[in-house]
Amino acid sequence: MNVDGKPYRSIWRDPANDRIRIIDQTALPQAFVIRELETVDMAARAISGMLVRGAPLIGATAAYGFALALRENADDQAMTAARRRLLATRPTAVNLRWALDRMQAAVAGLPLPERPRAALEEADRLCEEDVRMNEAIGRHGLAILRALADESDGQPLNILTHCNAGWLATVDWGTALAPIYKARADGIPLHVWVDETRPRNQGAALTAWELASHDIAHTVIVDNAGGHLMQKGRVDLCLVGTDRTTAAGDVCNKIGTYLKALAAHDNGVPFYVALPSPTIDWSLTEGGDIPIEERDPREVTHLRGSAASGELTEIRITPEGSPAANFAFDLTPARLITGLITERGIAEASPRSLASMFPEHGVSRTGTGDD
Ligand code: MRU
Repeated sequence: MNVDGKPYRSIWRDPANDRIRIIDQTALPQAFVIRELETVDMAARAISGMLVRGAPLIGATAAYGFALALRENADDQAMTAARRRLLATRPTAVNLRWALDRMQAAVAGLPLPERPRAALEEADRLCEEDVRMNEAIGRHGLAILRALADESDGQPLNILTHCNAGWLATVDWGTALAPIYKARADGIPLHVWVDETRPRNQGAALTAWELASHDIAHTVIVDNAGGHLMQKGRVDLCLVGTDRTTAAGDVCNKIGTYLKALAAHDNGVPFYVALPSPTIDWSLTEGGDIPIEERDPREVTHLRGSAASGELTEIRITPEGSPAANFAFDLTPARLITGLITERGIAEASPRSLASMFPEHGVSRTGTGDD
């Protein structure tokens, strides 16, 4: 997508010198900073420090991180160590494990000297596929938005989204925001309610920045406003992403998603989840088995932003000594979900519907499958 009219991806390899570059999302919206990942350790720190975040982008970064590790040492032991290092960065998004499984499978049978180049090319392919899947999600989601717009007498469609599931969270396009970008290009009048998404404010900082960059009408709201707006009839549709969806259609996403789904259910507002298939954990049928990341409580006790001088600053908002807890994700049961927008079309949030859309994946066992 575009930054100041120039197309960017959230991660890319410079074909001239094979350098891997990312947009540092911790600097947005105050500054647009590009950084280089030179080692597997830098890739791992970029994921755990959330310079890159969002399930598909976590997977893509891990893929390049794995390739960077193989540049230094491509033997089996080094591959296992790289996998372990990257897998330990963030527990919830299943795209991380999926990407590492895929990278390992792509190079394991090759002679050592061929592995580094093959890994880099596999990471490139994984990124290209991510872009294609998200673009397809955009097309399928557009059909939903168009149908709702047709019923709205020319009034702008009001869409509520949570966290950032835009192009910054993927390699390009985004998941939940992809249909919105498509609708904007199609001339459908729309307005997006952007949940600020405490504690890290991915909505206020990143989604608002993305939408503003693409000239899409939006309003940032506090996380607790969604229920009120739905009661007042001011939300036509909720559209969110996910970090891990079970084979039964339960959706794990940024903390607060569940409350939006409850409010949507109570008010008869359609609640859609957009996801590329690598976000489906086919080994799980129980949402309760998804590991929920708990992050540093400092993200709750402190706020980051720019001071009047423009300088980035951090302030404490809780009394010294008050304990805080920082649960990063929650689980929305399938029964609260209107539909799952995938690259193959719209599935019901049910084991049968997901299995018939992706027949190549049998549901074989339960358990987290994380090693
Ligand atoms: O903690 P984050 O910022 O990585 O969480 C991101 C989300 O919860 C997104 O909604 C999810 O990864 C889907 S991104 C297309």
